[in-house]
Amino acid sequence: MTAPPLAVRGLEYTYPGGIAALRDLDLTVERGRKLVILGPNGSGKTTLLLHLNGTFRPTRGEVLLDGCPAGYDRHALNQWRRRVGLVLQEPDDQLFAATVGQDVSFGPLNLGLTALETRERVGEALAALRIADLADRATHTLSFGQKKRVAIAGILAMRPEILVLDEPTAGLDPHGVVHLLNALQRLHDAGTTLVFSTHDVELAYAWADQAAIFQDGTVLRQGETTAVLADRELLQRARLRPPLLLELTQLLPGPLLRSREAVLAQLQERLRVNQ
Ligand SMILES: Nc1ncnc2c1ncn2[C@@H]1O[C@H](COP(=O)(O)OP(=O)(O)O)[C@@H](O)[C@H]1O
Ligand SMILES: [Mg+2]
Repeated sequence: MTAPPLAVRGLEYTYPGGIAALRDLDLTVERGRKLVILGPNGSGKTTLLLHLNGTFRPTRGEVLLDGCPAGYDRHALNQWRRRVGLVLQEPDDQLFAATVGQDVSFGPLNLGLTALETRERVGEALAALRIADLADRATHTLSFGQKKRVAIAGILAMRPEILVLDEPTAGLDPHGVVHLLNALQRLHDAGTTLVFSTHDVELAYAWADQAAIFQDGTVLRQGETTAVLADRELLQRARLRPPLLLELTQLLPGPLLRSREAVLAQLQERLRVNQ
């Protein structure tokens, strides 16, 4: 069996000042999947994600890339960040250049690509997020949702094989969420492995193939989303409520449905039959 592209084993992290944020944490990122890190606020999601591209170094335990312990020298970190791109929760923490085009160019230029190659990468990344029209805009004039897409485009321009996003839908309106998920789905269809954190069980249920349930700095269980989210006792321990969509589809005969449209259609069908 080939090693997973990214995994953490026995991870512990203590912030300066002594706050233990992660403890004995195991997680496996499998190639080509959509993995959700699901847990309440303060459970350690952000702290974990900052380990996945080497921003934080574990206090104990290790991060494995293709089964080998990751290195933390400059060369190793550069190679690592080409493969694993991290999109921070707050786009203002990520964006720094004056214009969108300059911001998204930064990564490819930093990789040593030529101006021509960089332009190609920037065009591709902006197109993937459907924001080509923003290329010349000043970043500080963008809306929150637009900034979020630019921040993702900046990471995408490095063509990472694994894209890690911290609470990607937080702060977006419903239309913004749909727009973003469509863009992420296209990336996933093109082969990108996705890892994202959220406290939103509905999003996790509707969208992720795999879920890792977080509580107090550790993973209580990682597995197929439907199986994990159907484990009521587990969710209670993690202070999460089961997704409404799952509770509804469990009341209906047949296989568990994952989309709101499918569940509503079946409910309507049954209500008609009963009339
Ligand atoms: N810079 C920091 N210094 C000290 N403690 C921190 C810092 N950032 C987060 N923490 C603590 O680490 C724990 C996990 O936080 P975090 O990873 O941000 O959780 P989540 O992303 O799930 O909300 C919390 O107890 C939080 O208070
Ligand atoms: Mg967080």
